[in-house]
Amino acid sequence: MKKSVRPINVAIVGATGRVGQELLRVLEERNFPIGELRLLASARSKDLTIAFKGKNYPVQEINPEAFKGIDIVLASAGSEIIEKLAPLAVEQGAVVIDNSNAFRMDPSVPLVVPEVNGHVLKTHKGIIANPNCSTAQLVVVLKPLHELGGLKRVIVSTYQSVSGAGKEAMDELENQTRAIMNDEDYSPQVFQRQIAFNLIPHIDVFLENGYSKEEMKVVEETRKILELPDLPVTCTAVRVPVSISHSEAVTVDLERAVSPHQAREALANSPIIEVWDEPDKGIYPTPLDAAGKDPVFVGRIRRDTSSENGLNLWVVADNLRIGAALNAVRIAEYVVEHNLLMQPVTT
Ligand SMILES: NC(=O)c1ccc[n+]([C@@H]2O[C@H](COP(=O)([O-])OP(=O)(O)OC[C@H]3O[C@@H](n4cnc5c(N)ncnc54)[C@H](OP(=O)(O)O)[C@@H]3O)[C@@H](O)[C@H]2O)c1
Repeated sequence: MKKSVRPINVAIVGATGRVGQELLRVLEERNFPIGELRLLASARSKDLTIAFKGKNYPVQEINPEAFKGIDIVLASAGSEIIEKLAPLAVEQGAVVIDNSNAFRMDPSVPLVVPEVNGHVLKTHKGIIANPNCSTAQLVVVLKPLHELGGLKRVIVSTYQSVSGAGKEAMDELENQTRAIMNDEDYSPQVFQRQIAFNLIPHIDVFLENGYSKEEMKVVEETRKILELPDLPVTCTAVRVPVSISHSEAVTVDLERAVSPHQAREALANSPIIEVWDEPDKGIYPTPLDAAGKDPVFVGRIRRDTSSENGLNLWVVADNLRIGAALNAVRIAEYVVEHNLLMQPVTT
């Protein structure tokens, strides 16, 4: 970040949640130039304080005045909440970077992973959408493959950690595992079925076409971000008993032949991808390797022997970071560096 940038006033909506907490960590790690910091959540949290850079900040209940004087709102509460709040915040002069599903497919709202399609931020009208966590890590890998061989079709199966469903879901996995180990009952409250020692091929609601909403988010958001509206994409989304990091088995059909070696080189050239691909030495990424880290990890890159120009890959990333908080802060940095706030930023 340029030194001449003025302090930026930031509000976090959903500061007490899993993504909210990660946002604070990422802002601190990256030394984002914060002026005022306003932490917002529901009435349930209004007596809490949260530490940031050694100082305690009170959590405030969201109210119509909450965005006065704020430059950037980092939003990580549910879509119903943000749908109402975002226009209010924009009216009050803020840029809203939203992690929910509320605006992602709105044609007037940029849906952004800065390293993939940062250029679309220049057209923003106040609201900017962060993609679904599974989409974010997928497009980071698809972009260089598309440049190399031309994407013809994408097939993805996701193995999504419980943190993707928020803090209560993480508690459920932990408490249910403990209860089962102690021979006690713990009926599912957040998930549709027992998640401990199990997996669930059901994330979000099912739609008329037989896909889950989560699966269709991956399909539609991938096309929007890559600016390939007709790209055939299909997805099966599965919840697995892992705390943090989503994994994806990805198959791509390409227009032109690309060897695994060429794919490895192209992926390794991305500043936000790490290739871990020496399976004979046991080197490939797992969710535990990616948790708490910034890169998207790729391994098991191999020819798909069932198609002419196909490749198979294994893609793992921390869903709370690349899939939410880190991506949102990178968007904020881009907006500040390119002077795209409502008020000028350079001094
Ligand atoms: N987790 C992920 O990997 C991920 C990735 C991408 C996008 N997202 C999206 O990010 C958003 C937050 O997810 P999360 O995982 O952080 O969920 P979470 O852990 O359940 O946190 C939810 C946050 O929203 C706040 N909230 C709930 N109801 C509210 C209300 N009526 N008014 C104001 N604040 C309210 C909560 O405040 P209280 O503590 O006061 O209840 C809490 O701070 C969701 O839209 C989710 O889909 C999550």
